[in-house]
Order: sequence, then C-alpha cells, then structure tokens
Amino acid sequence: MEQKILMEQKIKDLRERAGGAIKSASTLKTLDEVRVKFLGKKGELTTLLRGMSQLSAEERPIVGKLVNEAREDIEQLLTEKNSSLKAAELQAKLASEKIDVTLPGRRVHEGHLHPLTLTLNRVKEIFVNMGYTVEEGPEVETDYYNFEALNLPKDHPARDMQDSFYITEDILLRTQTSPVQARTMERYKNNEPIRMIAPGRVYRRDDYDASHSPMFTQVEGLVIDKGISFADLKGTLEDFSKKIFGEKTKIRLRPSFFPFTEPSAEVDVSCVMCHGEGCKVCQGTGWLEILGAGMVHPDVLKMSGYDPSQVSGFAFGMGIERIAMLSYGLDDMRLLYDNDVRFLKQF
Ligand code: DAH
Repeated sequence: MEQKILMEQKIKDLRERAGGAIKSASTLKTLDEVRVKFLGKKGELTTLLRGMSQLSAEERPIVGKLVNEAREDIEQLLTEKNSSLKAAELQAKLASEKIDVTLPGRRVHEGHLHPLTLTLNRVKEIFVNMGYTVEEGPEVETDYYNFEALNLPKDHPARDMQDSFYITEDILLRTQTSPVQARTMERYKNNEPIRMIAPGRVYRRDDYDASHSPMFTQVEGLVIDKGISFADLKGTLEDFSKKIFGEKTKIRLRPSFFPFTEPSAEVDVSCVMCHGEGCKVCQGTGWLEILGAGMVHPDVLKMSGYDPSQVSGFAFGMGIERIAMLSYGLDDMRLLYDNDVRFLKQF
C-alpha cells in the first residue's frame, strides 16, 4: 500500500517536471532531449515502471493506468510544443528573409564601347558602306612588309621618321598599317580589283604626351582597279570627311612625300571647332591635318604582283585617335588610354 502511494507520488512528480521542462524548451533540439529524458528507453518513466514489480496484483493495473495516462499526457504536451516551436522557427526564418519590395533597386552600372572603338566602328561603317572589305595583318611584322614592300629599302632615310621597336634584325612591331596593303595584294591575283581598309594598332618609339603615344590606332585604305585616278582619291576622302565630321566639312590636299605613293598628299579638313574661321584647336589656320594619302607607287604594285600598266590605285592612312579627339573635342590623347571612368562615362 505504501509502495502504491509512493509510486503515485513519483508519477505525479515526473509528470509535473516533464510538463515544466517541455514548457521551457526553446528549441526543437532541447525538446527532443526532454523527450529522451522522460520517455526514452532509459528514461525516467521506464525506470519507474520497474518499481511495479513490488506492487500487489490489484494495485498494478491502477498504477499502470496512471503511468499510461502520464505518458499520454507528456506525449501530448511534446506534440503541441513541437508544432509551436516549428511554427516559431518558420516565423523567425520568414522574418529574417523578408524582402522589402518597396526598397529602391540596386543600380547596375552598364558598360559600353570605348570612344576609340566607337570612332573606329564609325570609320569602318562608312567605308564598308562604300563597298570596302576589312582586312587584317599582324602587329608583329617582318621588315619586308613593314618597309621593303612599301618602297623603303634597308638604307632608306624615310625609315628614320618611324623610330621603331625591333624584336630581331628582321622582325618589328609594325610602325604603320600600310604593310596590310602588300599582304592583301599578294592574296589577290591577276590584277583583281581591291577596295579595302585595314584597321589596327601600330607602334613607334615615341613620347607619351597630349598628342603622342608609342602605341596608337590607324586605318589604312587601298583601292586598286583599272583607271583609278587622283580624282577618285579626292572624291572618296571628301565623302568620308563629310560623313565623319559633318556635311559642311571641306578638305584640302597639300603636296607631301611617302615612299609608297606618287604623288602623295597630306589631307586637311576644315576645322571642326571653328569651321575655318581660325581658333585655338586649328592654331588659327582653319584647317586640321587628318591623314596621308596618294597614288600607289608603280614599284609597290609590282612588288606585290600587280601590273602598273594595267591597273592603278590610291591609298591613305589615318590615325584614329586624332579623328576621335576631333569628333569629341578632346585636348589630350592620354584621356583615351587612362581608363578613367569619369571620362569614359561621358560617351
Ligand atoms: N603609313 C603612313 C604613316 O603611318 C600613312 C599613310 C600615308 C598611309 C600615305 C598611306 C598613304 O597608305 O598612302 O605615316
């Protein structure tokens, strides 16, 4: 009888302690620890059940019933607490991952083409629309293509105008895009007509200042066909200048010298700033030099397999940095290479 009272007391006590522990469990993990402590195989309730052997046959079912009721009670509390903890965890997760759709978006800074590339693309577009092909040649070039095939033999004084980066005696960084003329002529056979431009980088040992850079960009042009004349050259360059600098642009040709053209000319355009009145940019002259040009020298045609008695041609070469500076009104070439975002953003 005493044993029964003791057991009943223990069950009541266990139930209360389990209830308290469940109530104060704040995570699913601690709740599970509570379950193991009270209901597990080695838990308190199991231990209690062992004491049943000391009860009389009549007492056993009574106490047994109490034990079962306590187990059910505790299980019930565990289930309830489990779902409320789960709900709380979900709430916390939702709260921490909440997206405020009313916040302003984070701005994506979009890149765009470099002003030099924009200018180059515009030049290409103008000539491609006139039916020119776009040719390429290597930046590391042989002495033959860079100089000899352009009528500049080894001891020619005009070579000095282009202080060059030599890699070996016979290989150098090309000083001009003109070697692509010879390379293209060699690819075409039987005096086939050519209408090409060749854009690309060129290298000369030079200062790096407001108007010089040891690396810059050129576009070469070459047209060969039956009966090509100086008038074709002039008309083409006039058309190009109007398209790139505006309809009102005038051009002027001054006699000059290039070993690979005869006659040769420097080509000026009317100043893009003052339209010929004279200003700081054109140093009061009203004109700006933009390119070199001429009629392809018969020897240059011959060296690359063309017959000067059958066909003639004109050629020209321009610096793209200069065209970009004039069209965007830049006073320092280095702006094009500095990669300063404050500058680049403006295009
Ligand atoms: N290659 C010359 C230079 O870099 C530019 C040039 C002048 C190219 C006259 C030509 C030309 O094709 O006919 O200074």
